[in-house]
Amino acid sequence: MQTDHLYRCLLLIAIVTEFTTATLSKSDKSKSKKKDKEEKVKPTDKNVQQRGLVNNEVTYKEILKEHASYCEILKDIKVFETGDTLAYVTPWNGHGYDIAKMFGNKFTYVSPVWLQVKHKPGGAYSVTGEHDIDKGWVSGVTKGRSVKMVPRILFDSWTGKDYQNLFSSEDEMEDCINAILEFIKEKGFDGIVVEIWSQLGGYRRKELIHFLTHMGKMFKEQGRILVLVIPPPLQAGNTPGMISKEDFDALVPVIDKFSLMTYDFSSPARPGPNSPLAWMKLCVETLVPNSTSPYRQKILMGLNFYGYDYIPGSGEPVVGYKYLEILKKYKPKLKWEKSVAEHAFEYLTGIGSHIVYYPTLKSIDLRLQLARSLGVGISIWEVGQGLDYFYDLL
Ligand SMILES: *[C@@H]1O[C@H](CO)[C@@H](O)[C@H](O)[C@H]1NC(C)=O
Repeated sequence: MQTDHLYRCLLLIAIVTEFTTATLSKSDKSKSKKKDKEEKVKPTDKNVQQRGLVNNEVTYKEILKEHASYCEILKDIKVFETGDTLAYVTPWNGHGYDIAKMFGNKFTYVSPVWLQVKHKPGGAYSVTGEHDIDKGWVSGVTKGRSVKMVPRILFDSWTGKDYQNLFSSEDEMEDCINAILEFIKEKGFDGIVVEIWSQLGGYRRKELIHFLTHMGKMFKEQGRILVLVIPPPLQAGNTPGMISKEDFDALVPVIDKFSLMTYDFSSPARPGPNSPLAWMKLCVETLVPNSTSPYRQKILMGLNFYGYDYIPGSGEPVVGYKYLEILKKYKPKLKWEKSVAEHAFEYLTGIGSHIVYYPTLKSIDLRLQLARSLGVGISIWEVGQGLDYFYDLL
């Protein structure tokens, strides 16, 4: 272990030296661009545990001082080693593209949110979103690594009639699936993350299962990965969600992984934590009660890397840079809510009293411990919204 550590330190020095040399040899223009980036991310040789940052006691000052410093030694190591990790990347939070490249070895799957499937008036199915595909970035993330590229596809602006059409015959379903399969084969993607279940609001489950079963089989035949996004099976107050254990049982043989949306527990109408720890556990146990079942590994328990800022009657999501701005401006006192295992703080503006829930190292660490003990993987929505020192834990 000790020699391993020493070796990594030497490697770090080598990398830093090489980086500096490379920077010097670049043109002035790219030099100034590089400089911006260097200021944003600050590698250190100590990880967040060693720096004593994974704590219930957290101050705004500490977050502002430490958030950009990730551990260079852990950069290429998957610390969460007991399950798969899926990282979503969105074009509207560009920092996620850098994170996926930097920390690519920590991720089993990277899912850029790029694609839509459309039902054209003539009846044909087509995949759009090609303009977002960034080939250079894809190879930057995957080259020399085992990470799989599985873009997300959305059934975008589909009407009830479109779904009616899709479910009306085996041929329709096959046409739609083929359009998706051919697209990802042509682009060289390993598979896809499909978001369709919640779009139907919990209705038409039988048809959905039929369609997705078809899809799973066709993907398997072509050696492609199929990840399905699913809502939580339980909502606040433990009322049933839009998917049940029976639905899951019907799908599990043909779906490779389930991206389980264990977040957005609260809402402006009912402000509170993003994702109470006990609720996450219950969601997993509802879908797969048997703790030794291999199906546990198919669940990628969702972690939010964004937060919410609530004011009476309203609220909005908060991403990393916005969170840091609030900390800087209002210097709030962070409070650990033990019952849900999340930090929160309040601050006051002209429009009223705010309460903010945003993940911290402590809240993430406890969720990773939970994932380990449940034997599930994780999915992160999304890596452009978090803080750079979160990745020491992954
Ligand atoms: C739980 O899963 C294991 C592994 O698949 C199986 O051997 C066992 O019979 C299951 N237990 C129950 C109670 O279903």
